[in-house]
Amino acid sequence: MSANDTFVKTVWMIMDELQNAGQMENALQLILERLCGEFNCAEASIWLKHEADQKCYMIASKGNEDNTGISIGFNLGLIGKVSMSGETEYVKDCKNDNRIDQKNAHLYGDNCLAIPLKTPYGVMGCALLINRDTVFTDEEVKSLENAFAVIALDLEDKGFSFDVNTGRKPLVSLKGVIKEFMSGEELNRILKGIDLDVYEGELLVVLGESGCGKSTMLNIIGGMDKATQGQLIVEGKDFSDPSEAELTDYRRDYIGFIFQSYNLMPNLTALENIEFIAEISKHPMSSKEALEMVGLADRADRYPSALSGGQQQRVCIARAIVKDPKIILADEPTAALDFTTGQGVLKVIEKVVKEKKTTVIMVTHNVEIAKMADRVIKLKNGLISSIRTNFHPLRAEDLNW
Ligand SMILES: Nc1ncnc2c1ncn2[C@@H]1O[C@H](COP(=O)(O)OP(=O)(O)OP(=O)(O)O)[C@@H](O)[C@H]1O
Ligand SMILES: [Mg+2]
Repeated sequence: MSANDTFVKTVWMIMDELQNAGQMENALQLILERLCGEFNCAEASIWLKHEADQKCYMIASKGNEDNTGISIGFNLGLIGKVSMSGETEYVKDCKNDNRIDQKNAHLYGDNCLAIPLKTPYGVMGCALLINRDTVFTDEEVKSLENAFAVIALDLEDKGFSFDVNTGRKPLVSLKGVIKEFMSGEELNRILKGIDLDVYEGELLVVLGESGCGKSTMLNIIGGMDKATQGQLIVEGKDFSDPSEAELTDYRRDYIGFIFQSYNLMPNLTALENIEFIAEISKHPMSSKEALEMVGLADRADRYPSALSGGQQQRVCIARAIVKDPKIILADEPTAALDFTTGQGVLKVIEKVVKEKKTTVIMVTHNVEIAKMADRVIKLKNGLISSIRTNFHPLRAEDLNW
């Protein structure tokens, strides 16, 4: 097969994976597996630059062990060099080549091709292809450079990145948060040391499998539950060991909650459901205004039973925003709704973030919804397994599931 055929085939495969995999991580993993097969390499990995840390982080790997998440300084060896220069490097004997930092030699195997991830905007990082049984030809290298440029463009477009520290002050921080529950005789550690900063005015989406502790984390942030260990810090104030009274004030003054189930008072109208919360709030907005904001001004006098699911959920959003809280916590707010209705609810949440600069933390199972977030965190095995910043969040109206 000519190098040109190889290139076409490789790019075709990459485009296919990028389009069809539900998540970028999975797509990259599959691409690396297939590239290793195609080019007879033992291992491969993809590294992204994180300017703030001056490090490259491994975001995908194919090989004996999953090392994703490890990082290496820009100044240390080949990964940093290629990620900075944008020039491919091919090392045929890693043990005897001073481009390889020997302390990290295990990352490179015996021979290694390091290809930059280049976009028109700059170099995002690099890919390594490790331990090939034959030497790469110049044509193969050129093909792979182009193939990884395709991947880089898609990464840029879909916004895979790290938690970019912009120097903003966090509004809410969790530090080393551990949560344990008794289950029968057994003590279960659900959250195993969560460190998280949430910034003012951002929409943060939390993903993770059922039972991984998303709601538990949200409840701790919302002062509905206390951490077994660790700190909750809000605007610099430590709420780690609050009294009941402090917790009640905190919930009242800072937090608006939106749940999957609507929990509206059945014997109060839409407007009354909102007024009832406004009355116990420190600095409420007008209840009518809140109802207007969610597009239900004309349904003010309806009882919940005479509203659709989506309308009831919008009343819940109005109820959450009427307090003018700093933080809105939304736990699967669209899970019970069909696509169009769910999207309507997301549009309202988007509007609240944009117009009122409210910080929203939203839990969902739906990876499509994560595309509208400023940042997306994933919980896995009681820890945050990834944090990513969307360079170009989608608008709620452009989501589709
Ligand atoms: N009050 C409690 N007592 C005992 N165990 C609990 C309690 N609350 C949660 N758990 C357990 O903690 C784990 C995490 O629960 P959590 O509700 O946070 O998961 P989740 O990620 O929100 O799941 P889902 O996506 O299904 O809503 C589960 O195994 C659950 O059974
Ligand atoms: Mg939950």
